[in-house]
Formats: sequence, C-alpha cells, structure tokens
Amino acid sequence: MRVLVTGGAGYIGTHTLIELIAAGHEPLVVDSFANSVPEALVRTGELVQRTIPFAECDVRERAALRAICADFNPEAVIHFAGLKAVGESEERPRDYYDVNVSGTLNLLAALEGTACKRIVFSSSATVYGVPQYLPYDEAHPCAPASVYAKTKHMAENILTDWQCANPQTAVTVLRYFNPVGAHGSARIGEDPQGIPNNLMPFIAQVAVGRRDRLMVFGDDYDTPDGTGVRDYIHVSDLARAHVAALGAAQTGTEVFNIGTGTGYSVLDMIGAFEKAAGCSIPYRITGRRAGDIAAMQADASRAADLLGWRAELGLAQMCASTWHWQRANPQGYNGE
Ligand code: UD1
Repeated sequence: MRVLVTGGAGYIGTHTLIELIAAGHEPLVVDSFANSVPEALVRTGELVQRTIPFAECDVRERAALRAICADFNPEAVIHFAGLKAVGESEERPRDYYDVNVSGTLNLLAALEGTACKRIVFSSSATVYGVPQYLPYDEAHPCAPASVYAKTKHMAENILTDWQCANPQTAVTVLRYFNPVGAHGSARIGEDPQGIPNNLMPFIAQVAVGRRDRLMVFGDDYDTPDGTGVRDYIHVSDLARAHVAALGAAQTGTEVFNIGTGTGYSVLDMIGAFEKAAGCSIPYRITGRRAGDIAAMQADASRAADLLGWRAELGLAQMCASTWHWQRANPQGYNGE
C-alpha cells in the first residue's frame, strides 16, 4: 500500500518505516523536523537499503499538505505528527491544540479526493487519566488530565466522527503505553532534545555520562517498592503494531491498547539497565512529579485477539537496545 507517514522521521516513525518496508508497503514521510532530523531518515534508509522519500512539511500547512496528498495519492495514512511533552503542553496549550488538533483536521481536509481509506492514529494511554481500575482496557473511561492528553483525545474523536461520516473508511487508534528501546542496529533510537522528560532516555544519558544522576520522582506511591509503575514496550514491537493495524478490519473505528501488560517500577528499570549496561546508575529519590500517577498497565488482549499482535521483546532487550544506541550515539544524531 502507498502509506503517508506524518511525523515519520521521529522515534516511533523511523522504527515503523522499517517494519512497513519489510511488509512491502511504500511509505512517503511528511515531517516538519520540529523534533526530528533528516539524518534519522538517512540512517533508516541505510537499514532498509533504499532512500526513504520525504517531504518537509508541517501538518498545519494546509495547502502544502493538500498538494503532497494529491500527488502521492495515499491508500493509507499513519498519523504520528504531533507534540508530546506533557509539561510543555501546560505552558503552550495553543501550540498543542494547533499541531495536534488543527493538524489532524488539516490532514483530513488534505486527504479529500485521494484514495485514502484507512488511518492509523498514534494516540496515548494518557487519554485514560487517573485509573478507575487496572489494567486499563479500552472500555476504561477517558478523563484526559493534561493539555497534551486532551489534544490526543480530541484527535481520536475527530477521526472517529470522520470515519462515521465516511463509512467506507477505517480508523485504527493505537493507545501507546511507554515506548522504549531502539533498533537492534543501534543506528536509530530516541533522541530527545534538551533534558529528557522520560525515564528511559534519562537513565541512558546518565549511563553514558551526559548527566550525573537520575532523580527518582517519589518513592511513597502505593506500589511494591514505592516508585511509579509503568508498562514499557519495545519500540520495535510498537512499530509492528502499526503494520498489523493496516491489515485490520476494512471499515469502522477500532481502539487498541499497545503495551505488554507487565508493569515495572522505576527501581526495576534502573536495575535492569544496570545489568544491561554493566555499570551503576547513580540516583537520588526526590519528590513526586506533578500529574504523575502511581501505576498504569495495559490490558493488551484486544490487540492480540483482533490484530493478532502481541509484544515479543522483554525488559532485557528494551534496556540492552537502548544502551547500544546511546553508547554508539552519545550525543544522539548530533554526533554526525
Ligand atoms: C509520560 C507522559 C505521558 C506520555 C508518556 C510517553 C507525563 C506526566 N506523562 O508518561 O503522557 O504518554 O510519557 O512515553 O509526562 N521518572 C523518574 N525520573 C525521571 C523521569 C521519570 O522517576 O527523570 C518516573 C516517573 O515518575 C514515572 C516513570 O518514571 O513513574 C515513567 O515516567 P515517564 O518515562 O516520564 O513516563 P510517564 O510519566 O508514564
């Protein structure tokens, strides 16, 4: 299939391109490079031994996006492009609504008149909000707490309503849990700009000597060791879920949790990373981070039942691949 991949130069996008091409799809990337670099696409191309076609375009640029869609005539879209930092979303709400919500509306407008019948949307488990029960299943009520979470939930609703009005189309919403890890080649991986917000890239930067120590945000949660518990998923497993979604039901809207179903605490993650990297990760316990919840975990059985997808890579592979990427690229893509 001809697949338009918005935000394809990013962390999850590049890993997904590898799986898409392996499955015989023809991607075209659209990326503004606001939070990614062209080098990531060059390296992805090396891994699949072909040039990855891309157009530099922000999803807010309606006319440019329309021209790209008219020319490429996609049969499907995987919509990754968006802003994703929770803290920043509270400081810059207008940007988040603009990129994540208006960007999605622009995409739908740009797709009018094309062959596109299928959209796979990059959403987040953050749309559930404070858990009423765990593991979250897809029927768990959505109560998005941050601006970021609200924009993702709005985009889900926009796509669902678009699908209803266009019954010959299919929308697949993938709610990611906590993506970590890197491609086994260590050529592509997560490369956050500035101070990492997320646990795994922070640990990796401590291990490689870019930062002195990790701050553990709270050890007084109601969890086995008091630190926050999350469902970490290897980015290559997550990438495969997108390919599975392209082959899912031909019409209708479907929502899937994409996680492993297993939770690990912050201290579990430190221990597993130390083992993978063969070094110690200095850390200090500090206060809770505003907005954090104690634990979250996926019930991923729906994706297994309906998409035939399940996570295959465990914690050791998540940590080892992150370490290999970070060690080979201590400054991320900037090293080249
Ligand atoms: C965060 C986002 C979430 C987003 C997800 C994407 C917040 C509040 N939530 O989730 O919306 O979908 O990333 O991956 O930002 N931790 C530390 N020290 C650190 C960093 C994190 O102790 O320096 C802890 C956190 O308190 C948490 C766990 O590590 O218990 C995981 O944190 P993180 O990687 O930021 O992910 P989430 O908070 O689950």
